[in-house]
Amino acid sequence: MTKVAFNVLAILNIEKLPLSPRQSFIAVVSGLLHDCCDKKYMVEEEGILEIRRFLEEETTFDRMEIKMMIQVIGTMSYSKVVANGIPVMDAYWKPIYHVVRHADLLEAYDVKRCFQYNRHAYPTENRKQLTNRVEKLMKVRVWKYVKDGHIFYPKCVEWADQLENKSRFQLGCLAGFLKGHEEGFRAGVEIAKRRRIHL
Ligand SMILES: [Fe+2]
Repeated sequence: MTKVAFNVLAILNIEKLPLSPRQSFIAVVSGLLHDCCDKKYMVEEEGILEIRRFLEEETTFDRMEIKMMIQVIGTMSYSKVVANGIPVMDAYWKPIYHVVRHADLLEAYDVKRCFQYNRHAYPTENRKQLTNRVEKLMKVRVWKYVKDGHIFYPKCVEWADQLENKSRFQLGCLAGFLKGHEEGFRAGVEIAKRRRIHL
């Protein structure tokens, strides 16, 4: 989750968005907290309650800020947006929402993280099955973020392209390793080509 907060900082830097220091601070904290209510890891409602308690008792954010941060965190995930669309927000909160959301989407290109999550979610599956899950998720979802308009900030589009290349290569290496090739690097490239994963 610190990775998402780092991504928030990086996006603020590269996109040169006109966020005030307060908005930037809110975006970083939202990025830090957002996984604490991710239904992949916990009961979402419990996570939201815990985030609310933390923000109310241990920070100086005011009531309105806390309400809106929880709205940002609770509506920004890919699955929520696909199901419900982008929520209507005013000009102050909209850029905060999109920065945190971009930061979260960019984290999804991490093959290792995706593999680890799937191992946690499907503990009985072997590496090959898990690798297939990662590849499928990348193909049907992550590598389409730009094309489907989820990632649209211009520098983030470039960043996503680089991350996509890296993840395609890593996935190729992983597939090569699983096939028992000694030189994972070369095997990765070959397998990536064969699977039409363009490097
Ligand atoms: Fe996330």
